[in-house]
Order: sequence, then structure tokens, then C-alpha cells
Amino acid sequence: SHQFHTIHMEIQRHRLVLITPPFQGHLTPMLHLATILHSKGFSITVAHAHFNSPDPSNHPNFSFLPLFYGLSDTHISSKNVVDITATLNTKCVSPIKEALIHQIEKANINHEKIACVIYDGLMYSIDSVARELKLPNIVLRTTSATNFLTYHAFVQRQSSGCRPLQDSMSLDLVPELEPLRFKDLPMFNSCDMQKQIAKTMEVRPSLGVICNTVNCLEEKSLYRLHQVYKVSFFPIGPLHMIAEEDSSSSSFVEEDYSCISWLKKQPKKSVLYVSLGSIASWEEKELTEVACGLANSKQKFLWVIRPGTIRDVSEWVESLCKDVRVAIAERGCIVKWAPQGEVLADEAVGGFWSHCGWNSTLESLCEGVPMMCQPYFGDQRVNARLLSHVWKVGLEWSNVMERNEIEVAVRRLMVNSEGKEMRQKALKLKNEIKIAVKDGSSYDALNRLVKTILSINL
Ligand code: UDX
Repeated sequence: SHQFHTIHMEIQRHRLVLITPPFQGHLTPMLHLATILHSKGFSITVAHAHFNSPDPSNHPNFSFLPLFYGLSDTHISSKNVVDITATLNTKCVSPIKEALIHQIEKANINHEKIACVIYDGLMYSIDSVARELKLPNIVLRTTSATNFLTYHAFVQRQSSGCRPLQDSMSLDLVPELEPLRFKDLPMFNSCDMQKQIAKTMEVRPSLGVICNTVNCLEEKSLYRLHQVYKVSFFPIGPLHMIAEEDSSSSSFVEEDYSCISWLKKQPKKSVLYVSLGSIASWEEKELTEVACGLANSKQKFLWVIRPGTIRDVSEWVESLCKDVRVAIAERGCIVKWAPQGEVLADEAVGGFWSHCGWNSTLESLCEGVPMMCQPYFGDQRVNARLLSHVWKVGLEWSNVMERNEIEVAVRRLMVNSEGKEMRQKALKLKNEIKIAVKDGSSYDALNRLVKTILSINL
């Protein structure tokens, strides 16, 4: 114990600066990573945008550094992720550089050392800043390893003149990315997107890449990435599971806990949880089809309709036909934002209709909940393909927003034998993930990460 104490003291002098963009799906895993590394003895500073900020009172042990990244609320509400990323990477450079210089000075005064800068994969321009300041750096990738591999394939094909990866209709398999099909890939067809990808892939973080994934989920992709990208990979996920001591929320929208008491009154595995995460949304016409489809499926449902999706939810419910209104009152629960972790962990939940964002995917896998996949953009189609064709815990359906199609898909997941099989597979995966976290691959990768950071700072 004496030896442990000494090592711990030594690590205390090492401060990590973590830099995150203002998106829910990125901030949450970064804060989990911060919690994990703090528990390993590092001091933590989290740099973040001046809006969509984390609540410092949830993390009394961290220092927070609100920065003006040059983005505004209007930018964010445009939902143009590619454009937002481009702006972020040009405008964030000088404020972050200034802040880092200041952090280095402050650390010197406090007899600390900035041991490493850890930044989100979207913010590739920080690579050059860290290099200039001679700070070791690591990238956190908050999406799947397989998604990252599609970027590599895109860059490869572009330089070799092969068939470009931009056929959103084609069902053909992409040979180097099987079982992904051309239509599953992120959109590589806009010039801006291509520029962003190229820049992302040029970055070679000095200490490597942290992936929020688990070896048992993406072994092949991780292996290939390691071969081609030639830096260390640390698959230490699922971060939310490892950071379990941190039960505080980093939600931008207040969570409505009334749905948990509603869930407690429902039979086991009877409820379909419906949510499209923090960006994707249905239009009013589609919402009505969802409502009718859910009603006709005769299943129970907990449905997240985010603020801003529709002007007035209760007015809209009133406008629906009587059968549907009755179904919502008797079998449904609608909230603006749910405590998703607790929802998925609740015994009453038997399925998750999702846009397949990577955080939602991991959260569902960790609780053994099978999914009904409705991917929208970016990495979501890749995740959906993994769910349905690799792990076989996700339902692929037409994705046609029409009540009959929805009714059939919901019943396939919640009632049919198909759904039961997926539920069994999901439970098996849940156990494998638990083992990886307890003393398996994620546990090992985390120890390797800590050692790597310490050894460079000896
Ligand atoms: C974005 C991208 O869309 C996604 O494809 C990428 O993988 C990560 O960044 P987002 O669309 O918000 O993320 O989806 P997701 O990754 O699933 O993250 C949503 C987070 O919000 C999850 O952690 C989920 O638990 C939380 N959430 C969602 C809630 O807490 N309550 C809700 O009601 C809905």
C-alpha cells in the first residue's frame, strides 16, 4: 500500500487538459473519460465551448475552462455538422492555443505538469497546436472504430482512383469494409465533407487514439485500423459503463424522471423506448405516422419528443384521432428528454427504436436491449449495419415513415420470435462487455493508456 501511495502521489502532479466540442454526443463521453482518468490519479481540466457547457457543480474535482470557440447558437441550430466542424477548426485554434499557454504557465507555478492534451476527433486542428507547444496529445474518437475505418477507406480510394465511396443507393458490398454496403457509408459526396475527412485522417496524435468501443464488438476493425493508421489504439469503452461512479448528468435538456415511475408500473420487457438522440428529428407529418403506428402495434411505448420538434405537443396530441389519443393515454408516455441510461436499464424496456447514434448504441448494448434501427446521417448507418448484420441485435426494416410499416416493424421487435432471438443475443453481448470492462480488453487498454501517458512524462 505504501508503494501504491507513492505512485498515486506522483500521478497527482500530472494534469490532463481535455478539449470537447459543444455537442451532446461528444461532451458526455469526454466527461466520462475525465472521470475515469481522474480516478487513476490525474488532475483534470476540461476546456469546452461557452454554451452547451457542462455543469461544474457535478464535477467538483475538475477545473473547467469555458472558451469562445467562434461558434454561435445559430450555427448549432443549423444542424449542418460539416459546416460547424469546419468553422470550429478554424476559429478554435487561437483561443485554444492561448488557453494552453496559460495552462502551462499555471501548471509550472503549481508544480504540476500538463502531461497530455486529449481532444475530440472532430477538432483535428488541435493537433498542430499541441505539437507547436510540445505537448503530448491523444485523440478521443466518440464514434465506432468501424466508422473511423470508412474514413480511411475513403482517403485510400481517393488517392488510388478506385470507385469512389459515394453511392448512397447501392446495395453492393464495399470489399474492404464488408459487411458494409455503399449505402451504409457516411456521405462522402460533398466537397466540404471530403476536406474534413482528409484533414481528420492526416492527424497522427503522438500518443494514439482512444476509442469508445469494446474489442469484442469491433475486433476486426480495430485490428485493421492499427495496421493502417500506425498509432496506438486504446479501445477502453464503453466509457459510460467504466465511469459508473459518475452518475451526474451532462444533459443539455432537463431529464424528465416521471417516465421512470411510469416504467416501474409496466410489465417486464413490455415497453418500446423511442428516441432519436439530440440532433435527428421527425417532421410533424411523420410524428403522426409514428403515433398511429405505435397505437396500432398495441405495444407500450416511452417516446421522447425533444423541445423544438413540434410547437405544442399536447395540442398536437389533441389533434390526433380518438383511437390514437386513447392508446397514448393508456399505453404511452411522452417526455421531452429522458434519463436514457436509467430507462434502458429498467426491466420494463424490451426494445429501443433509435437513430443509432454511437452513444445510444453502446448504452443499449450494455443493457441487453435490442434495437429497431432508423439511421439518419453520419456514422448512424454504419452502426445500424453493425447492429443488424454483425451483432444481430438490431432490426433492419424499411424505414418508410408510414403507419403500417411502423406497426409491422414494432411487432417484429417486441412480439415476434425474431425479436426474442435478438434479445437473447443482446444479453450475451451484454455479458461479454461486462467481462471486457471488469478484467478483460477494456480494462487492459485503460491500464496501457495510463502507462503510456506516464512514461512519456517521466
Ligand atoms: C451525435 C451523432 O448524431 C451520432 O451519430 C454520433 O455517433 C455521436 O454524436 P446524437 O445524435 O446525439 O450524437 O446521438 P447519440 O450518440 O446516441 O447520443 C445521444 C445521447 O443523449 C446519449 O448519451 C443518450 O443517453 C442521451 N439522451 C438521448 C438522453 O439522455 N435522453 C434522451 O431523451 C435522449
